[in-house]
Amino acid sequence: MKTILKKETFAGIIGIGSHLPSKTLTNFDLEKIVDTSDKWIKTRTGISERRIIDDNTGLSDLAVSASKKALFDAGLEITDIDLIILSTCSPEMVMPSTACLVQQKLGAKTIPAFDISAGCTGFIYAVAIGAQFIETGCYKKVLVIGADALSKHLDWTDRGTCVLFGDGAGAVVLGVVEQGYGILSNYLAATGAGANLLKIPAGGSGLPATKDSFVKKLHCVQMNGNEVFKFAVRALPQATNAALRKANLTVDDVDYFIPHQANIRILETAARKLGVGFDKIVNNIDKYGNTSTASIPVALDELWQSGVIKKGDVMLLVGFGAGLTWGANVIKWSKTTSSN
Ligand code: ACO
Repeated sequence: MKTILKKETFAGIIGIGSHLPSKTLTNFDLEKIVDTSDKWIKTRTGISERRIIDDNTGLSDLAVSASKKALFDAGLEITDIDLIILSTCSPEMVMPSTACLVQQKLGAKTIPAFDISAGCTGFIYAVAIGAQFIETGCYKKVLVIGADALSKHLDWTDRGTCVLFGDGAGAVVLGVVEQGYGILSNYLAATGAGANLLKIPAGGSGLPATKDSFVKKLHCVQMNGNEVFKFAVRALPQATNAALRKANLTVDDVDYFIPHQANIRILETAARKLGVGFDKIVNNIDKYGNTSTASIPVALDELWQSGVIKKGDVMLLVGFGAGLTWGANVIKWSKTTSSN
């Protein structure tokens, strides 16, 4: 029998920040390197441009920059943080974790730091994990980062994938918030039956990098776009409703939906299925493309910086991605002012 513990400590977002590389790659730039068009990309995906990391910047640098902004927004120093969780599907190295590189660059001493891998749902998973450490009293402040540089894993001759992705990082500081505020519920799901639909086959222990794997571009993203699309338009409404049910809320209680930014048509279809006006769906896909596990915190940070979020607003964060994985967090916003 499932035991449901009544929460006494509420974990919530007390600081948020994001960082996008400065180099912009437009659809018109892509027209010059692959058989595509601005019109096709815009109408099929909603993307106009994306940001791309340069050769001298590592994924950990993006993550550090987003983290510093989140710490500043929280009015905290790195010495106040008890744990770092970083979600990514494009780690800087196979080993060690990117979280450890970030820990060192932020000047944190020996606090625990680890990566999680849950495709583009990674940030949703990482927030849920971080909140458990706070709600159980284990830690007081947790830095949660979503960072990806999938441009490093793209086959720039494959128009079915290379036009979709961009790089970026978003970070939040989780801490104890007022009773009834913060993370009200989490819903997490996965089905390894869909593992083949979206993957980077080489570079791990199953298929280590070899000359052959390099020639066959097996270290690049491979995706069955149509199947992932069908999965996404089922998963977004299902996770949304499941997380809201756990929080005893309905879609009408939500002020802002912050979905994973993969394709504007996925967002439009999901909004229709949920019966939600598109004005409530936060969407910045035109500027950044699919930044994978960074897309949700980046969109949330932009919304926060725009000044529209008020204390008490209900936010629904919802993601889907490789695994296949999907999930949602329901958050009652507890912050009043931004320090950025
Ligand atoms: N430019 C021009 N034509 C293209 C391009 C392109 N970039 N890409 C594909 N096409 C062509 C195809 O070759 C095909 O041509 P054909 O009819 O002559 O065979 C035609 O366009 C239609 O292709 P479809 O794949 O059916 O196009 P669709 O409308 O399904 O869009 C897309 C493809 C954008 C990939 C869509 O399926 C999608 O967004 N899927 C979901 C992807 C997603 O969300 N992935 C991220 C998951 S998150 C994570 O974990 C990383």
